[in-house]
Amino acid sequence: MYFKSSSLALVASIAGSAFTQQIAQDPGKGGVPIEVVHLYNDEYPQGIAVSSTGRKFSNYARSLDPNNIAYTVTELTSNNTETPYPSAEINSPPGGAINMSTTPATGANYENYLIGVQSVVIDPLDRLWILDTGRAAMQNGTNVPSSVGGPKLIGVNLTNNTIFKTIVFPPNVVYSDSYINDIRFDLRPSVTASGQGLGYITDSSQEGRNGIIIVDLGTGESWRHLDGTAYVRPETGFLPVIWGETVYSLPNSVKGPISQGTFGSDGIALSADGATLYFSAVGTRYLYSVPTARLLVNDATSELLAQQSVNSHGQKGISDGLETDSNGFIYGGDIEANSIIFFNPANGTVNIFARDPRIGWADTLSVATDGYLYFTANQLWRTPMFYPGTDRRVKPYVLFRAQLPGNGTKVKLS
Ligand SMILES: *[C@@H]1O[C@H](CO)[C@@H](O)[C@H](O)[C@H]1NC(C)=O
Ligand SMILES: *[C@@H]1O[C@H](CO)[C@@H](O)[C@H](O)[C@H]1NC(C)=O
Ligand SMILES: *[C@@H]1O[C@H](CO)[C@@H](O)[C@H](O)[C@H]1NC(C)=O
Ligand SMILES: *[C@@H]1O[C@H](CO)[C@@H](O)[C@H](O)[C@H]1NC(C)=O
Ligand SMILES: *[C@@H]1O[C@H](CO)[C@@H](O)[C@H](O)[C@H]1NC(C)=O
Ligand SMILES: *[C@@H]1O[C@H](CO)[C@@H](O)[C@H](O)[C@H]1NC(C)=O
Ligand SMILES: *[C@@H]1O[C@H](CO)[C@@H](O)[C@H](O)[C@H]1NC(C)=O
Repeated sequence: MYFKSSSLALVASIAGSAFTQQIAQDPGKGGVPIEVVHLYNDEYPQGIAVSSTGRKFSNYARSLDPNNIAYTVTELTSNNTETPYPSAEINSPPGGAINMSTTPATGANYENYLIGVQSVVIDPLDRLWILDTGRAAMQNGTNVPSSVGGPKLIGVNLTNNTIFKTIVFPPNVVYSDSYINDIRFDLRPSVTASGQGLGYITDSSQEGRNGIIIVDLGTGESWRHLDGTAYVRPETGFLPVIWGETVYSLPNSVKGPISQGTFGSDGIALSADGATLYFSAVGTRYLYSVPTARLLVNDATSELLAQQSVNSHGQKGISDGLETDSNGFIYGGDIEANSIIFFNPANGTVNIFARDPRIGWADTLSVATDGYLYFTANQLWRTPMFYPGTDRRVKPYVLFRAQLPGNGTKVKLS
């Protein structure tokens, strides 16, 4: 069967002339415009923190990319360069981040070096906190368990770039297969007996150790709540579609089996008044909250009471990081819609904040005192941790920002 070229031309011209009406289509963009702030062309980034003077910091988890070797925390020193922070030395544990002399291999146990950092956050006093998971991936993608000393919280004074505090987590709070993902701070003296404030941390462990960790920054004491509850776990059978691709996980690295579902409780945001903690797992589209008063107590019945006080705010789409501003809005990704959304607790609705086809997996969200929401887009679903297990990421990874509505700015609970 063949067509003469003249009849082909006739068919084409009929097809062209018969359908001249504009067909409605997805606009692809919406909300406020986003601008590019930084392009990452070296290691694989996740977190972003912006200080009151505009200094910017990122982290590069060693669990998410075995090639994140040279550094795991940097300061962004120009629009396209990054410098290990607070020093090159602390970013390079002697012998590497993995202890190969144990069976199986484990994260190195150094308290004075960074093993694998998943979050950098600036608190209301403009101090940088580094949240170290203590974990790192081997070249084949297997994520080793941590050793005591690895999982820790390090405070850095940005005036003279020195560490002023290190809190090492005990193994009954941060388990060896925990993954401490993100942290939010309430420094009001009234919230703890020590008067030095506290941090709320998500455990997003792919091994299922999900929960919320509370740490007193004064005493260093820490405890868990909502441990293993459905609110902090990914849903069974959860299947995202991102950039037109179905996303199956490979939790046990490239050898499979593939599964539906990803990380547990990951995003975390404190309400502007500090009374409510919002959180969401990556493997669900729901937003949950719990009164912080229920998390501060750690006694025989506090876990029962915490579980009984969780609220569901319905669906918001798939988010990685969450963030708050002075409007009281809770921002998150709607990763399947290339968007940043915000939840307004005052009217119970989720609305588009910014939508753009360049937003490929909004990872970390961070509000700064300059009135902008900063966020990274890092194509996480294209790493070998997801089917088909090949690396399909395309550099550069991007730091974007967008201006907050209503003169919104960073919340300072201090
Ligand atoms: C990055 O680019 C922006 C916009 O062009 C510019 O205002 C800013 O000064 C640059 N920052 C650095 C650190 O080069
Ligand atoms: C590695 O493991 C061995 C055996 O448990 C231990 O003695 C050593 O301190 C560990 N080193 C590091 C850097 O984790
Ligand atoms: C990954 O490599 C380590 C060290 O060689 C090995 O013990 C482990 O079985 C490997 N895992 C997979 C899933 O291949
Ligand atoms: C940071 O260090 C500077 C210089 O030593 C000091 O003046 C400042 O009080 C410190 N800031 C905090 C928040 O501790
Ligand atoms: C940095 O500031 C802290 C807090 O004021 C102080 O304890 C420390 O000695 C300073 N370090 C250096 C190297 O100046
Ligand atoms: C809820 O509040 C947001 C923020 O003010 C607003 O954009 C949205 O239109 C409101 N939705 C409804 C249904 O009132
Ligand atoms: C934002 O701030 C400007 C300048 O201070 C002011 O004119 C404007 O009314 C403010 N807008 C809102 C929504 O508060």
